[in-house]
Amino acid sequence: MLEPVAAAPERFDPAAQEHAEAAFLDADPSFRETAVLDELRASEYGRLDARGDVYLDYTGGSLYAASQLEEHLLALRETVYGNPHSVNPTSSAATVLVERARAAVLRYFNAPESDYACIFTPNATGALRLVAEAYPFGSQDRFLATFDNHNSVNGIREFARARGARTTYVPLAAPDLRVPEELLEQYLDDVAADGHNLFAYPAQSNFSGVKHPLEWIAAAQKRGWDVILDAAAYVPTSRLDLSAWKPDFVAISFYKMFGYPTGLGALIARRPALARLQRPWFSGGTVVAANVQGDLVVPLSGHALFEDGTVNYLGIPAIEIGLGHIDRIGIETISRRVEGLGAWLLESMQSLRHSDGSPATIVYGPTTWDRRGGTIAFNFLHPDGRPVDERFVDVVAAAHRISVRTGCFCNSGAGETAFSISRDTLIGAEFAEGMTLDDYIRLVGMPTGGAVRVSLGLATNFADVYRFMSFAAEFLDVTDVPADLPPRLAC
Ligand SMILES: Cc1ncc(COP(=O)(O)O)c(C=O)c1O
Repeated sequence: MLEPVAAAPERFDPAAQEHAEAAFLDADPSFRETAVLDELRASEYGRLDARGDVYLDYTGGSLYAASQLEEHLLALRETVYGNPHSVNPTSSAATVLVERARAAVLRYFNAPESDYACIFTPNATGALRLVAEAYPFGSQDRFLATFDNHNSVNGIREFARARGARTTYVPLAAPDLRVPEELLEQYLDDVAADGHNLFAYPAQSNFSGVKHPLEWIAAAQKRGWDVILDAAAYVPTSRLDLSAWKPDFVAISFYKMFGYPTGLGALIARRPALARLQRPWFSGGTVVAANVQGDLVVPLSGHALFEDGTVNYLGIPAIEIGLGHIDRIGIETISRRVEGLGAWLLESMQSLRHSDGSPATIVYGPTTWDRRGGTIAFNFLHPDGRPVDERFVDVVAAAHRISVRTGCFCNSGAGETAFSISRDTLIGAEFAEGMTLDDYIRLVGMPTGGAVRVSLGLATNFADVYRFMSFAAEFLDVTDVPADLPPRLAC
C-alpha cells in the first residue's frame, strides 16, 4: 500500500494564497472582467468547494451548473414526452424540443441552416465515425491527418485503408508540437486529382493545447480536400464561428462544453459534403420506406439520414439549456478566464525548481500563452532529470483531492513526438500476444509511461491553480517513487 504524501489541508496556507492572488490580479488587472465566473463558482458549482475538489480535467469533461440540471428536470417532471417517431401529442412534444435543440446548436455556431446540418450523435467519436464509414474513399483517394489527432480520428484510417485509400500523417515539430506551415502545404499539395481527399485535424490538441490555424480549412479546400475539424477540445473555451470558418465536417461532444448531458455530441456538416457521403447501411429512423420482399430502401436526407434509431430525445433538450448557460456567461469571458489562469499556471509550473536548481517539470507543447488553449501536458521530473512515474502523480493527486488526467490521452501521435519515439522504434516493436501495456512501454523504451494533463475550464478559479501548485511542490527533491504502482491498462 502506498503512503500518500501530506494532504493539501496540512500544507495549504490561505494567507499565502491570498497574497499570490493579489499579485496575480496586479499583474493581470483585466482578469477581473471574468468575475461573473467567481460568482457562478459559488452559486452553480458550489459542490466543488463543498467537497474540497480541485477539478482540472475539463478536456476530459466540463462541469455542469446546478441550474442546468434543475431546468432540465423541471421540463421532464412537468411534461410527457414520447418517442419522436410518431405523430401523437407526446411524440410531437419531444420532436419540438429535439428540433429546437438542433436549431440552437446551429445558431450557437453561427451556422446557417441553409448551409449546415446538425446531426445528433452519442459523442464526438460517433460524429467522426459517421464520416469515416460513409466517406466515399476509393483506391486512388487520400486520408491526411496531423500527428496530434485523437484516436477517434486516427481510426478513420481503418475505413480509408479497407477501401484502398492512402493514409498520410503530417508530423509535428518538437518542442512546441505545432505543424510547420511550409510542411503542411507540401502535404496538402499531394492531392488525388478528381479523387476524394479527406484532411482531419484538431482545432485544439487535447494533448498539447496547441490551437492549429483555422485558416488551414480554406487552404486545404482550395486544393481539393474535404476538411473534418475535430473541435471537441476547442469549443468548450473558444468561439467557433461557422459563418467565418467553413469546414466540411465538425465533430463535438456536448459534455465537454457544459458537462451535462453525457452521451450526446454532434456532427455539424456542410450540406453538399453531407450529400457526398454514402452510408453503408440503413436503419429505423433513416428511411422514408423500406420493404423486405421488394428489397426497397428509400433513404431520408439531411440529418435524418444519419440519426440511427431513436435519438436521445429526453437528453437532447438539455443541450439548448447548456448552450443558453454558456451564452449568458459569454464564451469570450470563458476564454479570457482560462487564458489568465492558464498562463499563470504554465509559468508557475515551469519555474518550479528542485533545491539543486534543476527543473521540476517538463511541459510538452507551447511553453508560453501563444496560440494555445487551457490544456497543459507535462511530467514532473526528479532532480536527475528522469520523469516522475505518472501513476505516482495520480496517487499523490488523489490525496489532495485533485483531478488530473494521466497517460497519453488517446493521442498517440502527440505522445510519440513529445517523448521522441521514432518510427523505426515503433515499427520494430510488436505488441505480441500476452503482452501488457507496461511490457510494451518497456520494449519501446519510452522515457515515461505517460504524461500528466491539467486542463482548465469555465469553473476554474485562482484557488484551483494555486492548490495545484501546492500539490506540485510535493514533488520537489523527490528522488524515487514506490515500486508497487498499479499496472497501466490503456493508453
Ligand atoms: C480532441 C478530441 N477529439 C475527440 C475526442 C473524443 O470525444 P468523445 O470521447 O466524447 O467521443 C476527445 C475526447 O477527449 C478529444 O479531446
